[in-house]
Amino acid sequence: MSDSVRIVEVGPRDGLQNEKTPVSVEARIAFIESLIGAGLHTVEVGAFVSPKAIPQMVNLDQVLRGVNHHPDSEFHVLVPNAKGYEAARVAGARVIAVFASASEGFSRANINCSVAESIERFRPVVASAKSYGIKVRGYISCVLGCPFDGEVKPQAVVDVAKTLWELGCYEISLGDTIGVGTPRKARRLLRAVAGSVPMAHLAMHFHDTYGQALANLYAGMEEGARVIDSAAGGLGGCPYAPGATGNVATEDVVYMLEGMGIATGVDMPKLVTATNDISRLLGKPPVSRVASALNAKRRTIS
Ligand code: HMG
Ligand code: MG
Repeated sequence: MSDSVRIVEVGPRDGLQNEKTPVSVEARIAFIESLIGAGLHTVEVGAFVSPKAIPQMVNLDQVLRGVNHHPDSEFHVLVPNAKGYEAARVAGARVIAVFASASEGFSRANINCSVAESIERFRPVVASAKSYGIKVRGYISCVLGCPFDGEVKPQAVVDVAKTLWELGCYEISLGDTIGVGTPRKARRLLRAVAGSVPMAHLAMHFHDTYGQALANLYAGMEEGARVIDSAAGGLGGCPYAPGATGNVATEDVVYMLEGMGIATGVDMPKLVTATNDISRLLGKPPVSRVASALNAKRRTIS
């Protein structure tokens, strides 16, 4: 496994959406810039969703306009419907992500509609985005279990993945929203979905609630998956998924990959500084094991 992996940093969106402490536009921009400075080129910067649902994501247009658009950086934003899409387009988004679920219970709780209805909402969004040259990523939540419906069969994920792929999404990100998956299940899922969507176009978006995310990523990589979503410091979770905690931490992913001989281009000390800065602002230490270890080492040396 000595080839390359693409990391999609989702901390400014998935991370901050679940935090109680409000984070200003300026601080969100500074966080994004520091992640880019650490070598993370693809950053999901927020979501154009209802401010009543997720107040943490307000003023995303200001964030998107405020960040430095380096030629090699790519900013993603989530959109749930036509209204979010219009806001994203007007704010100059070049990559949007629509988000569906493999389970009905979560779809209803998260975006207040059935899975089929959500797909119908995405259809005109994807068509218009394409006409403007805007790339569309597709998320599927609850791929390894749902907080409302329990077990989720791989076939349910395959069906949604196939639909989003045929709609025109360039990549399908498989979300273990509540982090219940284990390596064999992750492997089985990737194998099943790769029957309908090429493996090179699948991303692994694993939350680390049960501490299985790295093991699941490794299993997915053995199957050939090479795109990993992660959040600096292991921040976040989904407010509509009871009990869910943050994404796998970017530091932990980078440490594992570099240890496997896979160059990430990420500057670990800079990444840990970015994590420390946002964690200080949120008033809590990072949950990332690697950030904790490196912080302890820094304290011992200084
Ligand atoms: P709804 O109530 O059914 O929507 O919510 P509506 O169309 O009836 O509109 C209700 C109000 O929301 C109206 O305002 C609309 O204008 C407004 P009012 O007249 O009451 O003042 N509205 C909007 N405002 C801003 N932007 C919009 C928008 N749409 C409507 N785009 C809706 C449906 C989808 C809007 C709502 O449920 C929502 O925003 N949900 C947010 C869900 C969310 O962001 N969840 C977290 C992200 S998903 C996730 O974390 C999982 C993921 O990480 C993968 C994984 O881990 O599995 C991606
Ligand atoms: Mg998520």
